[in-house]
Amino acid sequence: MLSEKKYSIDIIGDWKRTHDCGYLRNQHIGEEVVLMGWIDGTRDLGNLIFVDLRDREGITQLVFDPAINPEVHRKARELRHEWVIAIKGVVSPREKGQENPDLPTGDVEVKVKELKVLNRSDVPPFQVDGAVDASETLRLKYRYLEFRRKKVFENFRKRHLISSIIRRYLDGLGFVEVETPFLTRSTPEGARDYLVPSRVNRGKFYALPQSPQLFKQLLMIGGFDRYYQIVRCFRDEDLRADRQPEFTQVDLEMSFTNENGVMDVVEGIMKRVFSEIKGVDIPTPFPRLTYKEAMELYGTDRPDLRFDLEITDLTDLMRDTDFRVFRDVIEKGGVIKAINVQEGGSKLSRKAIDELSDIAISNGAKGMLWAKVKEGEWQSTLARFLDMERISIINKKMSSAPGDLILFVADNDSVASISLGAVRIEVARRLNLIKDTDSFVWITHFPLLEYDKEEERFVSVHHPFTSPLEEDIPLLWENPEQVRSRAYDIVLNGVEIGGGSIRIHDPVLQKEIFKILNISEQEAQKKFGFFMEALRYGAPPHGGLALGFDRLVAMILGADSIREVISFPKTQRATCPLSDAPSEVDEEQLNELGITLKK
Ligand code: AMO
Repeated sequence: MLSEKKYSIDIIGDWKRTHDCGYLRNQHIGEEVVLMGWIDGTRDLGNLIFVDLRDREGITQLVFDPAINPEVHRKARELRHEWVIAIKGVVSPREKGQENPDLPTGDVEVKVKELKVLNRSDVPPFQVDGAVDASETLRLKYRYLEFRRKKVFENFRKRHLISSIIRRYLDGLGFVEVETPFLTRSTPEGARDYLVPSRVNRGKFYALPQSPQLFKQLLMIGGFDRYYQIVRCFRDEDLRADRQPEFTQVDLEMSFTNENGVMDVVEGIMKRVFSEIKGVDIPTPFPRLTYKEAMELYGTDRPDLRFDLEITDLTDLMRDTDFRVFRDVIEKGGVIKAINVQEGGSKLSRKAIDELSDIAISNGAKGMLWAKVKEGEWQSTLARFLDMERISIINKKMSSAPGDLILFVADNDSVASISLGAVRIEVARRLNLIKDTDSFVWITHFPLLEYDKEEERFVSVHHPFTSPLEEDIPLLWENPEQVRSRAYDIVLNGVEIGGGSIRIHDPVLQKEIFKILNISEQEAQKKFGFFMEALRYGAPPHGGLALGFDRLVAMILGADSIREVISFPKTQRATCPLSDAPSEVDEEQLNELGITLKK
């Protein structure tokens, strides 16, 4: 809510706006006020006409009474939804019994003395008050009408607040916000680039940045020390609820620091934001798990730690059983993993278990076995292959008690973990195990490289400027897949909200990495020559991170999709229903660019 003073700058003719439509209360009764806004609804009771006047702050009830001004009352009869008006009137108590407890202004109404119609409106394509919901495409086409819903506007006010808290926090630590180019060269973050043809340099293209990665590193080389930018990034990738082709990062980089330094800054941001926006005290430091631990315990590199259900490796306990399926898998170097669902024996029906099994299968497993834990026995296909002693050892290892349900997957390590990880999340959802807290965790020591079968070469898991762990450098050539990196992700409630790393600042090592990635010297020179050169002029040790700002805001607000917190988002097909982008362009424009479209 804005102060009264703020509104004295809003002037229509000789009228000054005195308040917003969410402001007036009993204490204002008797005051003469000027309000401006949109018509949210009208009720014509013949003698009295009631109008709900709306602006971004709320709704105030207006009353048009012929006894006060018959001319104004006549004009009020013409008012329609979404017309824009200004009124002058006197704040009055509502009649006994007519108060509206759902509205902050619900005790009062304004008896209108004068009315100015500032603009009319066509009948809107959907009800702005949201009583009947329209399809998302229609809402995005008329996004500006949807903005008139308080709930929608509030998302953007919160987004603004969060960014100003982050700016203030980083400013306080001596970070300097710097803008880096949008018309640039390809920045390797693993997605496709959006290309922009150059008219002046025919046949050449800029790429929109997938992130400011190289520029922020150049700023460190330039001695900026601490940089941040709340910045748009562009990635041409398949879209999902948490991905947009253009999205915003809180991008930061620091010199003369290590993982702890970067994490400390990010934890500070989160603590401040959660305290100011949600009023909760987030305990810091956040727990840390290595990538390996996360995969082993939760089957994912973005574990949701609001519930337990950890994965246990039972391979050793199953090694010498007569159960063929397990024995075959183990002989081939596979593993047997399991989760224990407390009271799952009674809470999960056969049908539910089958559905969980389908989830395991859709995540690569060949199947899922289960055991209902009973007093002194298991009810399971497995039971006759295991003696009581072994069952009780497994029960102990899994902390299983009678009534629980154990779910097993036998497969190679990665499939067993990933499929049980997916089952774990579904079990938590179904059994309401997800606690109402905010659970942050750092995932560290990601592998530096992974083998890309299509490209038949190693590619960076993070990006090629990420530093390997010092002690793993000797493995770079002989066992590249084993090399761990100094990359870290920050995960909130199972969502990756940011990622970063300590960078390579040694030009020799950077060259080596390009070689291992099978990027030839010429190619490296062509693509990153400017950067490789810069590394030779005294690059300080540096590192940083980027937060996915849209994701962070969406999570804080409990929004289902990042589209809800982006002003003019794209659809899943990367189109904008409002402006109809992308669009064809004139032949003339293409000619100027020297571009001919393939048929
Ligand atoms: P990364 O690629 O991990 O790191 O991106 C950082 C964070 O940005 C968010 N994000 C997205 N949000 C919405 N839509 C998308 N398409 C999208 N893609 C990514 C995620 C992600 O964690 N330059 C490095 C950072 C660094 O190393 O400092 C980078 O961009 O929340």
